[in-house]
Formats: sequence, C-alpha cells, structure tokens
Amino acid sequence: MIREAIAIAHPNVALSKYWGKREGDGNVPAVPSLSVTLDGLTTRTRLRWDPDLGDHRFVLDGAARKREDEPRVYAFLDELTRAHGVSASADVESRNDFPTASGLASSASGFAALALAGVRASGCDWDAARVADLARRGSASAARSIFGGFVELPVGAASARPVAPARALPLVVLVCVTHEGPKAVGSTEGMRQTLERSPYAQAWLAHAPRLHEELRAALLAGDFQGVGERAEASAFAMHASAIAAGVVYWNAATIEALSAVRELRKGGTAAYASIDAGPHVKVLVSPADAARACGLLEGVPGVKRVIEARPGDGARLEAGS
Ligand code: PMV
Repeated sequence: MIREAIAIAHPNVALSKYWGKREGDGNVPAVPSLSVTLDGLTTRTRLRWDPDLGDHRFVLDGAARKREDEPRVYAFLDELTRAHGVSASADVESRNDFPTASGLASSASGFAALALAGVRASGCDWDAARVADLARRGSASAARSIFGGFVELPVGAASARPVAPARALPLVVLVCVTHEGPKAVGSTEGMRQTLERSPYAQAWLAHAPRLHEELRAALLAGDFQGVGERAEASAFAMHASAIAAGVVYWNAATIEALSAVRELRKGGTAAYASIDAGPHVKVLVSPADAARACGLLEGVPGVKRVIEARPGDGARLEAGS
C-alpha cells in the first residue's frame, strides 16, 4: 500500500442543473446535468492511512472537524476503508482557497479530491470513470469534477463523462459572492424538500432533461448564446421548483445581481446567470466581455467580491503522489 497521496480538484458549475435524487443511497441523480469544471478555485487534499489512529481525522482549512460536524465526510471515509479492506484510519487535511459550503460547490471539489487521494493512497490505479463513481457517493456533483472541461452526469447510476474539452467554448464565469458564511439548507435536504413538497417538482423532473439536451447540442455547436440561455433557464426552473417548496437560497444581493445581468443584456452584452444551492450568482460571459462585466458586477449592492474563473482541468494527483 502507498499509504499517502495528495490530490487537487476544482469545483464545477452546472449549466444544466442536477436537482433531485432517486430513492436509495449513493446520490443517484433523477435528472441529467452538464457542468463546466473551473480553474481559479482549488481544493487540495492529503490523505494518509494511519494504523495508530482510533477514528478518522479530518482537518478542513486548518480546523479539526469531528464526525458530528461532517457526517458525510466520515461516512465516505468509512466506505473507503471498507471498500479497500484497509485496517487503518484516514488522516485527512483539506484546504479550499474559496469560501467553504456557501454554494460555491466546495462539496464537488472536496469529494473529488478526497476520492482521488483515497484511491491512490490505497495503492489502486482506477480509471477516472471509476473514481467519479466513488466521488458521486460523497456528492453527485463531485463526479463531474473528476473530469476537466465540459462534463455530463447522466440520470441514474451511469458514470460522469467528458462531453467537450475546456477550449470547446470560450467562456468566463464571474462568481459574484453575496455572502461569506455557510448556507442555511444543504443541497441534499433542499432537494428532498423540493421533491416532497413542491407543486412544481414533477414539472421540473419532466423539463430538466429537455433543457439538458438542448444545452448539450448548443455546446457542441459552439453556440455561446444557446448555452447561456439554456443555463439561465435551467437555474430558474430549478429554483422555481425549490422556492415553491419554501426552499429559498436567494438574498437581496442575488436579485440585484440578476437585474445587473439583465441590464448587461439590454446594453448588448451576452451575459447569462446561473445560481446553485446558495445566494451567489455565477455570470457566464465571453472572454472579450469579462473585464467590463466584472467591473459592473463589482458595483452591485451586496456583492462582496467577484471571482473570475475559466474552464479548467479535472482532478489530479500532486507530483510525487
Ligand atoms: O451534488 P451536490 O449535493 O453538491 O448538489 C449539487 C446541486 C447544485 O449545485 C444546485 C446543482 C448541480 O448540478 O451542481
């Protein structure tokens, strides 16, 4: 056994959204999704198997996190231990260079890096699809962060797969941060409440695959406007179904940023909004418009800062791992 490995992964933003799980374990998506893996935001995770450790140890951004603080991470480590027949506990240190658990998809990059480091530290040489299946068990969106560029996670238990390389669509994602703390309702709980209570849940489940197919076709045709329009429609349809169940992730700055995106469009700039399970607005623009759009979004009331990200690489091991 190699014992120790360090992996790096980036978050992704879903252009067509995954929102809703099938019954049972393993985070099996009820709708297909298509994302772009982002550079500019990074999770770095070191995992070491330690036979002398009683329970696993998980340190996130320098702070020790107990089992009750991070049940999903500990459950994932239990599963990793069982799957690899390891008689040791995992000693994990992970660091994000962006706000954790605030809708910036830290669970995607977090579980992608953890899965890859865990597999490698166990001495296994799995292909990316198999690592993605494991990452999905931590968080479905993590399966997509195993790959770079544009990545699809099909409905059901099928593995994530790359759809197009990062260069397929020149794109800048401007992440407008509107809040620096953790979100109120986690995505698993938000999805559960939506499917259980929303009068629009069935409409979302029926509509999402259609939007996904149209977005995929627009991406493969290199049609930026087509991708942007479908991405915005997917985010609005997802949030409409959630809001109807009382699951509201938006704050005042979210609404302000959305009107700024509409203003940009009125002024002739192709800009489109996407929102995940948090209050931040991710604005899709073409590289030529990025600097001007960024300047405008930085001035929106309530927007704390704007992070500029571009399509990037999938999860990888750090040299020497
Ligand atoms: O897989 P999770 O638990 O990180 O949920 C992701 C949910 C959204 O970010 C809102 C949509 C998506 O496809 O990433």
